[in-house]
Amino acid sequence: MEYILETKGVTKRFGGLVAVDAVDFQVSRGEIRGLIGPNGSGKSTLLNLISGVYVPDEGDVYFNGEPITRLAPHRIAELGIARTFQNNRLFLNLSIQENVMVGQHCRTKSELSHALFRPRSAKTEMLQTKEKALACLDFVGLNRPPEFITAGLPHGERRLLEIARALATEPQVILLDEPATGMNPSEKERIVDVIRKIRDAGITVVIIEHNMPVVMGISDRVTVLNFGRKIAEGTPKEIQHNPDVIEAYLGEDDEEEGSDDAAQARES
Ligand SMILES: Nc1ncnc2c1ncn2[C@@H]1O[C@H](COP(=O)(O)OP(=O)(O)OP(=O)(O)O)[C@@H](O)[C@H]1O
Ligand SMILES: [Mg+2]
Repeated sequence: MEYILETKGVTKRFGGLVAVDAVDFQVSRGEIRGLIGPNGSGKSTLLNLISGVYVPDEGDVYFNGEPITRLAPHRIAELGIARTFQNNRLFLNLSIQENVMVGQHCRTKSELSHALFRPRSAKTEMLQTKEKALACLDFVGLNRPPEFITAGLPHGERRLLEIARALATEPQVILLDEPATGMNPSEKERIVDVIRKIRDAGITVVIIEHNMPVVMGISDRVTVLNFGRKIAEGTPKEIQHNPDVIEAYLGEDDEEEGSDDAAQARES
């Protein structure tokens, strides 16, 4: 069977540190896959390897069975893999609509020459880009005027805006790096609904999330990293009772974010 996304033995080193260590990771079309692990276990690095931010030192990444290992990030985005970042990368001085339009860049054809010599089609395309941006804002439930300046958005809505921007690239797969971090309970409920809606729209979701109730509640399957290695994979129920996973989380510093959630997961 062909996976929509697959890594085979991917390894990424930073100096002497092995951030991702020979990881085999397979994601089926249409699933919501949770990616968890203690702080520094290599989760973001794995997403960076998939989205082309880093090239693996060893191993390969496949999208719909085709190798994408050495493609540039924008090429990978064009092929249909979108992502959000652990740290917000929005343009705070732009409007929310403009931030989403930035995301569509990889889908619009208007390069400068095109815009100069075929101004009418460039104009039509601009209108379509604007409309699609509105549709993406609406999809994630960001009910603000499109010209609203991003700096004025509270944290939770900024995370939704990032997701809207990723969706504007019309992805087959969306990679979310801790989308619910720092959210209050009602914002968390809202983002969980949005993630389910994304999956229901036919987009495969990979989500890194420290909040155990969130990740266990929405994932079809969960993959666990520890010190760069994949230590477990299974249904949320299997993962919650996996001794290696419990052990990995027990070793975590109590100061670290997510330890409360991990403790909750252990107790449940
Ligand atoms: N660009 C980099 N240069 C050097 N070391 C890095 C770099 N990026 C990540 N690392 C290191 O690689 C390891 C894995 O980091 P990564 O960010 O992938 O972890 P993570 O699982 O996403 O952690 P967190 O839950 O804190 O976000 C860590 O030890 C980190 O310090
Ligand atoms: Mg991370």
